[in-house]
Amino acid sequence: EIITEEMTAVQKGGFAHFMLKEIHEQPQVAREVINLLNNSADVQSILDQLATARHIYFIGCGTSYHACLAGAVYFGQLAKKAVTPVLATQFIPQYLPAVNQEDVGIFVSQSGETKDVLTALQEAQNRGMTCFSLANVIGSTLTRGTSACLPLGCGYEISVPATKTFTNQVITFLYLATRLGGQDLRQLDRLPELMSQTITMTDPQVKALVPKINSWNDLYCLGYGATYSMALEGALKLKEITYAHCEGMLSTEFKHGPLSAVLKDFPILFVAGPEDVPLIVSGINEVTCRGGRAIAIGEADQRLNANATDVITIPSSNAAFASLLSVIPLQLLSYYMSVDRGYDPDFPRNLSKTLTVD
Ligand code: G6P
Repeated sequence: EIITEEMTAVQKGGFAHFMLKEIHEQPQVAREVINLLNNSADVQSILDQLATARHIYFIGCGTSYHACLAGAVYFGQLAKKAVTPVLATQFIPQYLPAVNQEDVGIFVSQSGETKDVLTALQEAQNRGMTCFSLANVIGSTLTRGTSACLPLGCGYEISVPATKTFTNQVITFLYLATRLGGQDLRQLDRLPELMSQTITMTDPQVKALVPKINSWNDLYCLGYGATYSMALEGALKLKEITYAHCEGMLSTEFKHGPLSAVLKDFPILFVAGPEDVPLIVSGINEVTCRGGRAIAIGEADQRLNANATDVITIPSSNAAFASLLSVIPLQLLSYYMSVDRGYDPDFPRNLSKTLTVD
């Protein structure tokens, strides 16, 4: 048993948990996936088929679905291409009847073994849809079942809550959208360094926030546009490993009902894209004027400092990068809140890394 403990400690590379190690691996695996994409023989043909598709679907579950949501925003904004992001199980009742062989689907899964995703793939293929995969485990059922696969290149992800595989899924979509939109790909080379700066910069800010909000068992996490998917992903991370209820939603919807939940100090996280600050500030003011605690996550901006209760600052870049970077402090926040509550973030109760059942 001592040997097993020592081996585990070595595998954790000096970090207290696999989750923290995997958060810190993100800049390095980001570099890896950009290299893989630059050298991939499949990317051009996938792009050609996306360019001529009648309709495009990005399909996944859980965290992988959130990457689909982010990808669809990038495709709209950078490639001017409409994409439908959809949860794998909902794809069947809602879209399958409309699918034909002119449509293209990208099936996204860390494990490549999620039953819900494999079922949707099977049904889509039966209707003649062209199906590609975006997966971390190469040789999985998903990658074997699709005509081309984009590998995430993350190595093993041991922690149940996905971190590095999520950011590489998002980077892959960002890469495809950038290329499809005919934009300069070289700017993506800055991402790994920006991710590394984000970890260093936000870690102490997040740690300082934990004692201020960790007694709450209800929270909200709001975003808009490209940061909406990050808000959903942050909320999922918090639910998975702190066992608190955290609802992720579109910031502009909060006033249509949930606002009634705000009490003194009630914590609400606002993920603010650099181009959406005025809109986010108006959401922040609706909360703070009712005594709530508005926590803004975004680039350094006087308007956020002047209006939010707390601010977590990420490095400055551009709107597409900022949305990706903003998920990093949310990963760290869920990690530190979980540890502070005495839980093991790597292996949360009731959950497993891969769900191979309906
Ligand atoms: C499980 C995990 C989630 C994960 C989801 C999809 O529910 O607990 O963390 O996001 O499956 O997994 P996949 O391997 O398909 O990305």
